This record gives sequence, C-alpha cells and structure tokens, in this order.
Amino acid sequence: MNHRASSPGSDRVRPRPTPADRLAELVEQKAWSLPLLPDAILRVINATSDPGCGARELTEVIRRDASLTGHLFRVASSPHYAGQVKLVSLQQAVARLGVATIREIALVVSCQGRVFSVPGHERAVKEMFRHSLATAIVAQEIARTRRWNVEEAFLSGLLHDVGSAVILQALVDIHVELEVPLSPEGLATATAANHAFVGGCLVEQWQLGPALVGAIRHHHDPAPPPTLGRPVALLQFADAVAHLLLDESDDRPVRTHAALTTLNLYPDDVDRLLARRVEIVTAVEAIA
Ligand SMILES: [Fe+2]
Ligand SMILES: [Fe+2]
Repeated sequence: MNHRASSPGSDRVRPRPTPADRLAELVEQKAWSLPLLPDAILRVINATSDPGCGARELTEVIRRDASLTGHLFRVASSPHYAGQVKLVSLQQAVARLGVATIREIALVVSCQGRVFSVPGHERAVKEMFRHSLATAIVAQEIARTRRWNVEEAFLSGLLHDVGSAVILQALVDIHVELEVPLSPEGLATATAANHAFVGGCLVEQWQLGPALVGAIRHHHDPAPPPTLGRPVALLQFADAVAHLLLDESDDRPVRTHAALTTLNLYPDDVDRLLARRVEIVTAVEAIA
C-alpha cells in the first residue's frame, strides 16, 4: 500500500501562482523577453563615437534602415528642428542640423518605435517615452553647461526607465497566461519595485558600458555606490526635473534635491534650467 498517496494533504492542488509571484520569478531568473537593441541604434552610437564621423558617414549609416530614415526625416523636418526651412533630403538634414543633433534624433526615433512599444498599451508607453525624453533633454542640458559628456547624459536619460516598458510587456503576458485582469495599481507597484534593476540588466545586455548600466540600475537608490558619483546624480536630478516639467507643480523636490551637491549646482543654475521649461516641453512635444 502506498501510504504516501493517501497521506493527508498530498493530493492538495498546489496554489496557483499570483502575477506578483510570476513576475518575481521572471526578474530573479532575468527571463523577460529582451527587446533587441535596434541595429540602427548600435550603428549610430558606434559611428558617432568615432571623432572622424562626418555628415556623409552618418547619412550612410542611417540610410541602411528605411523606416529609421523615414521617421528621422519627419522629425528633423519639424519646426522644432528645421525652423522655416523645408528640408528635401536626409543628406541636407544631416548637413543642416549637424551630426550631434541627427544622432540624438536617430536614437530617439529608434527607441520610440522599437524599444518603447507594448501593443495595446500605447498610451501608457507614450507617457513613459515622453518622460524619458524630457529626462534625456534635461540631463543633456546640464551636461552641456558643465562640459560633461552630453551624448552619455542624453542616452542615460532616454533609457533610464526602459525597464518599465519591459515590465509592462511581461505583466501583460503573465495576466493573459493566468487569466486575471491587470490593475493599474498592480502595474504601478511592480514597475516601481523592479524597473531600475531590469533596465540596468537590459543596458548591460546591450553592452552600452558600465557607467550607463550603473546609473540606470541605481537611479532610484537613495545611497548609490560612491563610485558611480556624477552619472547617477545627474540622472536622479534630471529625472526629478522631468517630472516637474511635465507633470508636477511643486518644485521643492528639485530645489532641495540631494544630487545638487554632487552636481555642484547652485540655486541660480536651477533657476536657469527651470526657466527653459517651455523650450524643453516644446522639444518633447515635437518628437514624442
Ligand atoms: Fe525610474
Ligand atoms: Fe524616470
């Protein structure tokens, strides 16, 4: 006789995992579906990190990707970038706007179309993208005035919340699998708890460099590793400024931000940055 088979509780059905259990498992095993870094982004990053990269080389790199070319040309032709001038070709856009601006637009449109993309949740993802773009522009502005690496600042802002898009997609899949509805509260809690870690892992898998990985992984960490210093402080502060510019009215979190000391920013510097609110918001609206 099989005593085990009849022992009390042995035929109990295992409790169904909750969406939170499934997500925790997925994050622990890093088993989320990894959005591929679009080839075009890598090619643009590689080409423009070469100081010899000129307008012609960059045009060639972009041209190899037809959808990037079309989207990039549309953004470059917007009044925000082209002003009153009517652009007629990609080559003319690159020559007129310069390598740095075209690089920036190329990164933005590649991310917008392919990394920040969750079918059925376009509105939520658009909000994430607008916030990320605002963070990128603010980080870049601060880096420009301080003569820090503007490209790295822009990219860290653009990708800092990329983990949120990945978690949204993962949760959508988990809820379909478990046949339970996805609540906005459940999504917000899961995203808040995991997006920095997941985003850091993604950027690591994309091999975008340890400074970017560290800054993204620790961008909500109140005590980030001291070795990360400025990159993470810049990202944390730009993140707070982007929230203020797009969706908040209380400027105290920005004016009293802990990162101000590390960034060596004084109240006058913050005033100057916040005075550019309309300009920054207009740039976000023009693209996202
Ligand atoms: Fe974040
Ligand atoms: Fe953020």
